[in-house]
Amino acid sequence: MAALALLLLSLVQAEASLDAQAYADVLSQPTEEKEAFVEGVVTKTLHGFVLSDSSLQDFAEHAPPTYDLLVGQLKIQPWICGGDTGRLCSAPATAPLNAQGWQGVYSDPASRLIFARRVAMERLDKEVVNATELEAWARTAPQDFETALGELKDAPFLCSWPCPDQEVPGMEGGMTESQRRQVFVGELAFACLCLLVALLVLIAGAMVYADRRGASKHAEGVASKKKDLEEIIERRLREERNVEHQAALRAMAQKMVPMQSQVASASAQPMGYGYMPAQGYYSAQGSAMPMPPVSRAPERCTRHRTLQADHPL
Ligand SMILES: *[C@@H]1O[C@H](CO)[C@@H](O)[C@H](O)[C@H]1NC(C)=O
Repeated sequence: MAALALLLLSLVQAEASLDAQAYADVLSQPTEEKEAFVEGVVTKTLHGFVLSDSSLQDFAEHAPPTYDLLVGQLKIQPWICGGDTGRLCSAPATAPLNAQGWQGVYSDPASRLIFARRVAMERLDKEVVNATELEAWARTAPQDFETALGELKDAPFLCSWPCPDQEVPGMEGGMTESQRRQVFVGELAFACLCLLVALLVLIAGAMVYADRRGASKHAEGVASKKKDLEEIIERRLREERNVEHQAALRAMAQKMVPMQSQVASASAQPMGYGYMPAQGYYSAQGSAMPMPPVSRAPERCTRHRTLQADHPL
């Protein structure tokens, strides 16, 4: 609301005074007010027309510092026509895109075409799809500007950006049928190549996986076989040891038989050596062994004698 009020105020001011003093005041104010002031100078002081609002806005943003400079620069701006500017508004390239401009160019079909193209692009934001049809339309265009504008709005030879069917040179739409087929074949080949590469990668991966699994299985097999072999070897060794043991036992038993018989014959004979109380130590050879200095034998005898003395038979 405040902005609107300011704008109205500035419009009133612009209407009221378009002199150097007012311009000096307006210079320190926002762009919209400068824009309104500049437009006022164009239409009321120079009696011209503004052809482009965006150009006016650009100019107002970088407005010259003095009123004289402003008027001087406005006279040579390409976006202004008519009045004191020296550029004819009836020129189709510069005529204002309104009823007045349309009437200025209407007498010449070529000028109508140029003007219609500008209306389509600058006022309706459309692009020309078929220049031939636009040219045909311009040749028989209605004289009333509003009617012409309405026809251009719905014209099939114009489209709103981005135009889906518009043929832009160098793009896919501008290709011939054979070119399109070639591109399709190329794309197909590329897709096939991608598929092939993916397949190869998949196969390689599967092979590596299988190889790893096989290797681990093989390692397991080898380990279990080694264990089996070790067990077999151990069993064999144990058996062998057993056999040796048995053989040794048998050999010992065989050796034992003559020893036993010897022992038996030896026990039948009087001991090779011994101790007799009367004789002392003797050997099988019959020779008395020298008596060891033992005090026990006489003691025992004494005792025997003592017993006999106590209990006379
Ligand atoms: C433009 O329109 C004319 C007439 O309708 C047609 O013959 C021509 O092929 C069109 N051109 C393009 C590029 O569409």
